[in-house]
Amino acid sequence: VSMNTIDRDVVIVGAGATGLTAARALVREGHSVIVLEARDRIGGRLWTDSIDGQMFEIGGQWVSPDQTALIDTLAELGLETYSRYREGESVYVSKDGVARRFTGDIFPAGAATEAEITRLIAVLDELVAELDLEAPWEHPRATEFDRISYRAWLESQSADAEAIDNIALFVAEAMLTKPAHSFSLLQALLMAASAGSFSNLVDSDFILDKRVVGGLQQVPLVMAEALGDDVVRLSQPVRRIEWNAAGATVTSDELTVTAKHVIVAVPPNLYDRIDYVPALPRLRQQMQQHSSLGLVIKVHATYATPFWRTAGLSGTAFSPYQIVHEAYDNTNHGEERGTLVGFVSGERADELFALDPADRKRRILESLATYYGDEALTPAVYYESDWASEEWTRGAYAASFDLGGLTRYGALQLEPVGPIQFGSSDLAAAGYQHVDGAIRVGQRLASTIIEATKG
Ligand code: FDA
Repeated sequence: VSMNTIDRDVVIVGAGATGLTAARALVREGHSVIVLEARDRIGGRLWTDSIDGQMFEIGGQWVSPDQTALIDTLAELGLETYSRYREGESVYVSKDGVARRFTGDIFPAGAATEAEITRLIAVLDELVAELDLEAPWEHPRATEFDRISYRAWLESQSADAEAIDNIALFVAEAMLTKPAHSFSLLQALLMAASAGSFSNLVDSDFILDKRVVGGLQQVPLVMAEALGDDVVRLSQPVRRIEWNAAGATVTSDELTVTAKHVIVAVPPNLYDRIDYVPALPRLRQQMQQHSSLGLVIKVHATYATPFWRTAGLSGTAFSPYQIVHEAYDNTNHGEERGTLVGFVSGERADELFALDPADRKRRILESLATYYGDEALTPAVYYESDWASEEWTRGAYAASFDLGGLTRYGALQLEPVGPIQFGSSDLAAAGYQHVDGAIRVGQRLASTIIEATKG
């Protein structure tokens, strides 16, 4: 036994919201815990940072009213929220490139298309209501829904291309950040069900309701602070887990930890960064090859003032035809400068990443100018978050299955392997792909261990 061997009840891999929630719950029940984090910072996909003196939410930031696990956690940690600015009119840009102002949820795409969008939302709401959120693969038509792409299914439901492009956007560009042809209808229904309904996904005032004063990264930061440096160890990428029925030995570059239980609290696309000895069972090794992260560039642009407000605009803007498919007023609490946030998703992100940085910035700002006018072209501070380059994330926002993957592996992904449990926001039911889901999964994994050891 080397000097650096530590013995604990539970080893947790990853100091994101999932891992730290689990650690907190276990420590509260008297279990000894260590959290090994690969990065030199806490929080994973939550990262509040200062760029040229301007505070930005580089990762997750919004809180919606259904996210009660997150809301309860914020209250417990003493963190305050504030509402996203939303007064005034929103902007929609149709295929013709013309910006049109509107209020409410349905884009001004012409009476026939607006009626078709409303009809498709109702059809999707009905399907979503039939789904068991905890086990979507058990829906009587799950196999059928999992073998058709979301886009192909939409095309089978409607002949209105603009309605289809808009209904596709709410799940594809805006949530899974993958092309609508690359994931199934069932995966789309799960995404909507995890937010309560398809109508909720369409309602940006619901989905993007509140932010945290000082930034959402404070959730993991405050949790880690309370756990202390003895529990949370940074710059400790876990390389190897040797396991048997009785426990495991987990090694990072510097530490070796023996424990009865392991929680691997990383997104599924990173499971394979760890060597398992013995190797994981056959089907799990297969499963891990069918779940992947989406890709989105989150862009921040800060201006001397929120100039769009004086023009009567809320800052909310959408278009399936624009490089920036959605954008919002993202002005920080109590600031005079105005900040816009926009998103470039999927294959458009590929296209822009192929450009040099100056051209990419120009194309993105031109897209913002289509929504807000030419003042958008000259921000004081500009930043593009690039999660796909981050070794310990490799995409944004989160993971989803390819066609057919959810019915084939959805139940299996929740099963432990010997003493090892796996979890992240990307395995959540309610709050799937969100911090709320990370907290729910972290609580569930901790309870499993707490219950098992009560015996
Ligand atoms: P997360 O990925 O955060 O944590 C995993 C941790 O494990 C990381 O710290 C990683 O470094 C570490 N790790 C990985 N491999 C390791 C290894 N081998 N050894 C040790 N450590 C290892 N959500 C939301 O609710 N509202 C929002 O507005 C947004 N918006 C948003 C924007 C952007 C740009 C992103 C990227 C994400 C969001 N999200 C979001 C999603 C939200 O950020 C995400 O769901 C949770 O933060 C995920 O928390 P987890 O702990 O599950 O994973």
